[in-house]
Amino acid sequence: MKGCFVTFEGIDGAGKSTHVAQSIDWLRARGHEVLATREPGGTELAEALRELLLHRPMSLETELMLVFAARRDHLERRILPALERGAWVVCDRFTDSTWAYQGAGRGAAAERIAWLESWVHGALQPTRTYWFDVEPEVAARRRSGSRASDRFESEDIEFFRRVRDGYRQRAAADPARIVRIDGSGSVDEVREILEEDLARLCSI
Ligand SMILES: Nc1ncnc2c1ncn2[C@@H]1O[C@H](COP(=O)(O)OP(=O)(O)OP(=O)(O)O)[C@@H](O)[C@H]1O
Ligand SMILES: [Mg+2]
Repeated sequence: MKGCFVTFEGIDGAGKSTHVAQSIDWLRARGHEVLATREPGGTELAEALRELLLHRPMSLETELMLVFAARRDHLERRILPALERGAWVVCDRFTDSTWAYQGAGRGAAAERIAWLESWVHGALQPTRTYWFDVEPEVAARRRSGSRASDRFESEDIEFFRRVRDGYRQRAAADPARIVRIDGSGSVDEVREILEEDLARLCSI
């Protein structure tokens, strides 16, 4: 893998999209080619699957397979070619979201997620993952007032507590990759922390 694969994670309203946009601007201003993308989504097919995932009722098994189907298309068509040509890939959510939402949040078995993960992306993992950690109450306040809630955003606070615990476990298991960012800081405080770490990644 020649390029650098950076993912942003956290519960809904944690601040991912805000800081994805800033990080992309920062990298592009330094002359890097950046593929800015998101999950579920990132290709025409995967965006269509996203619409189903966010708005149609379905079982947990179906949900789990659809997120990985979308991911496979995204990897094949966009992420892997970009990394191969040496570009940066900055992605709003990736497989840690599946562990946190479908796993910790909804109770999908770890063996199933692990099996699908290794089938769909083999040994590939992000170079760096920023986990935006905020209290579920803070995230809910930030979300309120924005557009109508989707199937995930309309879950209760207990669901988001489990999802947050899921992220906590992921971060504890892979501290070299997953960096916890205190998402309760101001936008400028968080931006400075990210830029410092991105500068480090750029020099590797
Ligand atoms: N560090 C921050 N401090 C205060 N407010 C913030 C911060 N980061 C983001 N916000 C605000 O919180 C709201 C949610 O942020 P954002 O949309 O970036 O979250 P998200 O994690 O992408 O959410 P979702 O998962 O629903 O897409 C926005 O109104 C944004 O301006
Ligand atoms: Mg977002």
